Amino acid sequence: MKKKLIAGNWKMNGSLAANDLLVRALVAGLPDPSGCDVAVAVPAPYLAQVQALVAGSPLALAAQDVSQHESGAYTGEISAAMLREFGVRYALVGHSERRQYHGETDVHVAVKTQRALAAGLTPIVCVGETLAEREAGHTEAAVRRQLASVIHLNGHCISEVVVAYEPVWAIGTGKTASPEQAQQVHAVLRAQLAAASPRPESIRLLYGGSMNAANAAQLLAQPDIDGGLVGGASLKAEDFQQIIAAAQ
Ligand code: PGA
Repeated sequence: MKKKLIAGNWKMNGSLAANDLLVRALVAGLPDPSGCDVAVAVPAPYLAQVQALVAGSPLALAAQDVSQHESGAYTGEISAAMLREFGVRYALVGHSERRQYHGETDVHVAVKTQRALAAGLTPIVCVGETLAEREAGHTEAAVRRQLASVIHLNGHCISEVVVAYEPVWAIGTGKTASPEQAQQVHAVLRAQLAAASPRPESIRLLYGGSMNAANAAQLLAQPDIDGGLVGGASLKAEDFQQIIAAAQ
């Protein structure tokens, strides 16, 4: 049976001292055996610190981005191979904040997804509509376009990818999509995946956007929601633990 995945996205938050407290609490509180997979996507400078803290535990390490390039003269970039050296298992790709503030296009997202897979990382490909797209009735078209860019992977199968649906208007705003709204989009994505994979139900589709301890259980109960990508609530051990508990 497919386990749910709960991935925390710390974004540009944390410090050596705060990370130490948070990760120790998470490792100590993880159910063993756990009914779901759990990961934290940490800022790159803290990869080594968190790698040491999660060693020997089921808590997996994730990166928040990965370079589209393999190596070379790309100042500031971090390659998939470098991430692998620090025990990174998952890499977020195409988060809306990368698309919005760093000009990432569907083409960048597709190349990054390939790079991650080639290095043995599992990409968590983020898709989601803006408020303007939702209000114009373009939600389905927007997420279908974003997913289409990664659906045909050279030498890899889409079933090696995790997809996260994150409506942009729900990220960090406290406005969560209702479980019905989220399920509706997840069903669209699942149907689109069916065209590219013989077992679309095996692909994990996460919901992200103001998921918290109070709303996680209802969202995770939807038939096509296979986990969560959690920003703000992943910075507090107790809140994140309650979300993990809701996914057991
Ligand atoms: P949020 O962020 O939970 O703070 O809304 C989610 C995300 O951006 O991944």
